[in-house]
Amino acid sequence: MEPDTSSQLALEGLVHDLNNVFETISDAAELLAADPNYAFLAAALRRSVVRGRRIVEDFTATALGPQDFAALLDSAIEFAGDLFQALDAPLVEFRRDLEPGIRVRGGFAAWERVLVNLFVNAAQAMREGGSIEISARQTGDAVEISVADSGPGIPDEILPEIFKPHFSTKSPKAGLGLHIVQSIVTQNGGVVKAANRTDSPGAVFSIRLPRI
Ligand SMILES: Nc1ncnc2c1ncn2[C@@H]1O[C@H](COP(=O)(O)OP(=O)(O)OP(=O)(O)O)[C@@H](O)[C@H]1O
Ligand SMILES: [Mg+2]
Repeated sequence: MEPDTSSQLALEGLVHDLNNVFETISDAAELLAADPNYAFLAAALRRSVVRGRRIVEDFTATALGPQDFAALLDSAIEFAGDLFQALDAPLVEFRRDLEPGIRVRGGFAAWERVLVNLFVNAAQAMREGGSIEISARQTGDAVEISVADSGPGIPDEILPEIFKPHFSTKSPKAGLGLHIVQSIVTQNGGVVKAANRTDSPGAVFSIRLPRI
């Protein structure tokens, strides 16, 4: 197939200009860090810039190695924590139940986007706060990851719609989060499903990937 040079150039331009945006935020973070009152905010800004750069790098990379799931979960929880703080979200407790040594194929930032999108949805559903439980295990030929929350769950009538781009019960401009999740999971040979918990109220998202 012929490479699409105009979209390739558009992508390179986007990466170039986003790097300028990151540069400006980094400079501002350095200035803020000099004031002890804002050291916490400066650290959150620096972490966001690192993640922004990683997303851009992942997006343009051709080969990405297997990732240690426990490490990327730590990073996604930290990222979500910064975001919840910025959004003044109610208190969310993270619980994990990971089999040791789980690895997933694909980019670190891409998987972080999957997890952060699921965490943000869970936090938005749990208006009074609650818990997010992440579990991961390996079966014979698959890795199974699940993210469950203690919110109200997903109404049955919208379950078939939620992965469609621009489907949202929040805003007409929203509805991309789960589409991003599904695209990244599919790109890595996996399947993602949404359901409601059977043991207690809440939604549960299950990802099944080929074992590396
Ligand atoms: N954990 C959850 N609990 C209850 N409903 C959920 C949950 N996750 C997703 N949903 C429902 O699925 C819809 C689609 O989610 P999606 O992340 O794609 O879009 P969004 O969160 O509305 O907007 P965006 O992610 O683009 O900011 C949500 O509007 C919500 O109705
Ligand atoms: Mg969302």
